[in-house]
Amino acid sequence: MNELFDVSGKVIVVTGATGILAGGAAQYLQKNGAKVVYLGRNQERVDKAITEAEAISPDCMGVTCDVLDEQGLEAGYSNVVDKFGRVDALINGAGGNMPGATIGPDKEIFDLDLKDYSKVMDLNLKGTVVPTLVFGKAFKEQGTGCVINFSSMSSTQALTRVLGYSNAKAAIDNFTRWMATEMALKYGDKVRVNAVAPGFFISKQNKALLTNEDGTFTKRGQQVINKTPFKRFGKQEEVYGAIHYLLSDASSFVTGTVIAVDGGFSSFCGV
Ligand SMILES: NC(=O)c1ccc[n+]([C@@H]2O[C@H](COP(=O)([O-])OP(=O)(O)OC[C@H]3O[C@@H](n4cnc5c(N)ncnc54)[C@H](O)[C@@H]3O)[C@@H](O)[C@H]2O)c1
Repeated sequence: MNELFDVSGKVIVVTGATGILAGGAAQYLQKNGAKVVYLGRNQERVDKAITEAEAISPDCMGVTCDVLDEQGLEAGYSNVVDKFGRVDALINGAGGNMPGATIGPDKEIFDLDLKDYSKVMDLNLKGTVVPTLVFGKAFKEQGTGCVINFSSMSSTQALTRVLGYSNAKAAIDNFTRWMATEMALKYGDKVRVNAVAPGFFISKQNKALLTNEDGTFTKRGQQVINKTPFKRFGKQEEVYGAIHYLLSDASSFVTGTVIAVDGGFSSFCGV
């Protein structure tokens, strides 16, 4: 492994590690020699992730905890330090949408379910802020550390129907810049905070929105493809490189940035 990109031995906590993108990235990092903490809120799914992770190497552990549960995260933090002695990086992968926080095709803008809107704001925004405040203490003490947040294309462009999720992801961009600045000013240039903004990847949450059962695109899926110069959806492993770069010394002068991994979606006006 090129030294500039070496992540071996790093203790990396990954929230949402029972999901597609963050879970895949967690396994990828473990395969590259990192010690990986798989954090998820569902015990059964964490157990499954750990069974798969143990097949890669013994350098893994599971933490079952909701990303909004500050006390649970504190307990998880102390378990990680007991096992691995330190925390080098946090990947805030937990996130997602729910139908009530979007405007359904048969709904008015004014029908938005404000309770679901708040839940989605909480999961995506607070669910990134709270783990960063808990695990970020390690970075203050060590004077080194790295946070990677998950943004989205919907943070900078209006994605029809999707309000709560877009608002939260826009706030994550802002939080990324804010935290990067505060951390660097207070704890120095070895504490870095960045984000990745995946374009459209097929996940459990959006599969039915973007593809039909026979694999063809839905109308919305086709609209996304039309605005993506690469003319396809992303493959989960195409996010790993940006994460690897942001975790490694190759990005030692990079903080407060949001890297789009989107096949050109954010560059193209669609015409
Ligand atoms: N898939 C895409 O196209 C896409 C695009 C842009 C951004 N993203 C973002 O990337 C990240 C990963 O997405 P994904 O596609 O892998 O989604 P996913 O649904 O496969 O994974 C999300 C994971 O977060 C976990 N989670 C949800 N709520 C939680 C909570 N309160 N506490 C702890 N864990 C919780 C879920 O159990 C799940 O394992 C998310 O932040 C998502 O918003 C995804």
